[in-house]
Amino acid sequence: MNFDEIIDRRGTNSSKWDKMQAYGGVSPEDGIAMWIADMDFRAADVLQEAVQGLLKTANYGYFASDAKASEAAAWWMKTRHGWEVDPATMTSTLGLGHAIALLLETFTDPGDEVIIFTPVYHEFTAKIEALERVVHEAPLVIRDGIYHMDFDALEAGLTGRETAMLISSPHNPAGRIWTKAELQRLAALCDRHDLLMIADEIHHDLVYPGQSFTPFLLAAPEAAARTFVLTAASKTFNIAGTRQATVTIPDAGLRKRFRHALHVHQTQPNLFGVELTAAAYSPRGAAWVDELVAYLAGNSRLFLDGVNRISGVTAMPMQSTFLAWVDFAGTGMEMEEVLRRVHEDARLVPSVGGFGTGDETFLRFNIGTARPQVEEAVSRLQDAFADLQ
Ligand SMILES: Cc1ncc(COP(=O)(O)O)c(C=O)c1O
Repeated sequence: MNFDEIIDRRGTNSSKWDKMQAYGGVSPEDGIAMWIADMDFRAADVLQEAVQGLLKTANYGYFASDAKASEAAAWWMKTRHGWEVDPATMTSTLGLGHAIALLLETFTDPGDEVIIFTPVYHEFTAKIEALERVVHEAPLVIRDGIYHMDFDALEAGLTGRETAMLISSPHNPAGRIWTKAELQRLAALCDRHDLLMIADEIHHDLVYPGQSFTPFLLAAPEAAARTFVLTAASKTFNIAGTRQATVTIPDAGLRKRFRHALHVHQTQPNLFGVELTAAAYSPRGAAWVDELVAYLAGNSRLFLDGVNRISGVTAMPMQSTFLAWVDFAGTGMEMEEVLRRVHEDARLVPSVGGFGTGDETFLRFNIGTARPQVEEAVSRLQDAFADLQ
């Protein structure tokens, strides 16, 4: 697969490219979109063939079941992550955002506090607040350049109104992979305070060489009765537009309640999501992901090295994901001036704000794109801040 090929997604109804002007004020004519978390690569052949297979049927009526997606997902969890899951405990949703919202709605009440580790994927806060639950922030601390959970501060700050914890594992932004020991401490904390655990593992496949990811339920099988694990092929294979995710709920009672809530809303999965997920979670899909991960690791080295050469700018080391997290605090500039340079001078559109406490001096750059684009972005950033060198 030639990941270096630059695919022009402008004018294709791509959120990242066709909404960049509205979001960041930079024209797609000369700008580079580095915000929304999808990638600019051509889909894997195995996915293209799955779509062709559907085209041949020339019929898009009701389909019998999503079992093939669950079975393929269970195979993937076992072969890629060493995690044995019974496909009967899996349920399809229309993406992870959908799953998170429905889980919160079903298993927590208005006014309940939901613990999240900030800065984190902005939709966590958005969903909690939209449902009139309360965000309980557990700010991450930076040690040795990377994020750590402050377990003592978290436990000391509990109000007793918390009913759930929502984690991004690996963590978006910056791709920190929580260790087995950290996940076990979280499980113990949830047990002590009777919290439900929603483990969002959407980024679990894009793990860099030398790093290893531990699924929450592999680290803490004793937490199964209070845990919901969210996974999808969407980030890994860049099929977020097909809106398919998997919620694994080991506890039969919780699973029944969740399925009832889905049923009430008639939210069955999408035919294309089921077919593409089933095709992706395969040996051919795995080979493609191995190539992709090696490529992303190269992008990450290039981006982090280049950005770290700018005086006062520090990029957090990445263990996974294509979401680089860059701190401009050392420039001494107001964020308004940083953004003016990034938008107007460098013509780049990263993600800004919404990640919660700790995001104030950071911008998130999506490096899931062809390397020449990453090189161009680095060079533009270096030029935009050249007076600081
Ligand atoms: C941690 C995390 N969860 C969920 C999502 C989005 O999932 P979906 O598109 O399936 O709603 C993202 C997208 O960036 C994410 O980073």
